[in-house]
Amino acid sequence: MGETTRKPANTDAVTSRVIRAAGGHEAELTALAGELGLGGLVPVLLSEVLFRADPAPVRVPSLVELVVEHDGQRSSHVLRVAADQPPTPSDEPPDQAVMRVEYRLTDLARELFGPPRDRQSGVRGTRMFPYAPQDGGVPALLEFFAAEVPYPVFLHSVFQATEVVLSGCASRPPDLERLAVKHFSDKWGGLHWFTPHYDRHFRALRGAEVRVLEIGIGGYGHPEAGGGSLKMWKHYFPRGHVFGLDIFDKSHLDEQRITTLRGDQSDPEQLVGIARRHGPFDVVIDDGSHVNEHIRTSFRTLFPFVRPGGRYVIEDLWTAFCPGFGGAEDPARHQGTSLGLLKSLVDALQDEERPPASGEPDVAPAIRGALTGLHVYHNIAFLEKGRNDEGGVPAWVPRSIDALVPPGTS
Ligand SMILES: C[S@@+](CC[C@H](N)C(=O)[O-])C[C@H]1O[C@@H](n2cnc3c(N)ncnc32)[C@H](O)[C@@H]1O
Repeated sequence: MGETTRKPANTDAVTSRVIRAAGGHEAELTALAGELGLGGLVPVLLSEVLFRADPAPVRVPSLVELVVEHDGQRSSHVLRVAADQPPTPSDEPPDQAVMRVEYRLTDLARELFGPPRDRQSGVRGTRMFPYAPQDGGVPALLEFFAAEVPYPVFLHSVFQATEVVLSGCASRPPDLERLAVKHFSDKWGGLHWFTPHYDRHFRALRGAEVRVLEIGIGGYGHPEAGGGSLKMWKHYFPRGHVFGLDIFDKSHLDEQRITTLRGDQSDPEQLVGIARRHGPFDVVIDDGSHVNEHIRTSFRTLFPFVRPGGRYVIEDLWTAFCPGFGGAEDPARHQGTSLGLLKSLVDALQDEERPPASGEPDVAPAIRGALTGLHVYHNIAFLEKGRNDEGGVPAWVPRSIDALVPPGTS
């Protein structure tokens, strides 16, 4: 087990502070902006804009200037936007920009890291051809492009390039299907169709400052592969911190709001160490080895580290039928599989109704008392954490239909 990271030392600390402040009162954000200034905050904001921006079929590669203002100072960034590419920072002179987008520092911080909202206007300034002469003459840039491409094509590119940059500044994240394809996770689009289930169960947490742990980063031993789902969750939870656990070293994927951890999901000691250091988690997803005993061990160990209101997800239930993953072809022999675990959890949910004579259930009391929901779909299950403590149906309620509808009533 190990933790190596290539992230700059204080990235996570600064990001956490902006997320916290952007979810609070304006005064907190203003105080943080005053303390850290443009120099402390813009790198975190710009990294997020570049990550979130949605590539588009821009017809002519174009430059957009992103300006962040604070306390009379300005931080200017020229971004190059080309067809189907995320914007990239450019050394080209700003006077070649076709559009300038201006944000106050606190406004951009709130857009990116505050709870998602629908507001589309009134949060930024814009200037088309910002370096055009003020005397009403035709901008040199426009003349240049007019000679190269038809005017409507050029104008269309201006709009497209601007939209790409603004998509990176947007408060509301795109649909999960789109994010799965964009970041290349197999949770939607061929092998699995999990994203509608994920969205249904995660939507309520989307605007919260969540901590997500996914077991299984992807790519197995391939040195540069994997990470699609970590990026997808980072994008889906704009205020979240995403942790990925894999048996292989995946530290090349470390970036702002993503931390990779190396470890074995079948080792409870390692899992407890990770959970104590980085938990409690709002979401744990098991998409790791899919070995049945590993799934059961990880659940038993990590479910206690899910916070109340959180979710525990188990993917790829099909391996319950595969002896090669410790499963059993015969469902009658499923006691030690993922499906066997879920079946015992169905009983555990009804723990308060169980008569004393029925014997000790095979699910630990700490789990029985904290499981409040279980949703099972084809190949994926969502478990809800909370307080399973409603008191049960009282003893005075008849335990036989005969007391309510005497035999012979018709
Ligand atoms: C199916 S992939 C994960 C895909 C990824 N979650 C996604 O949606 O893009 C499974 C990953 O689990 C990792 N893995 C296998 N055995 C493991 C174990 N015992 N502990 C932790 N990770 C393991 C593999 O290295 C592999 O990268």
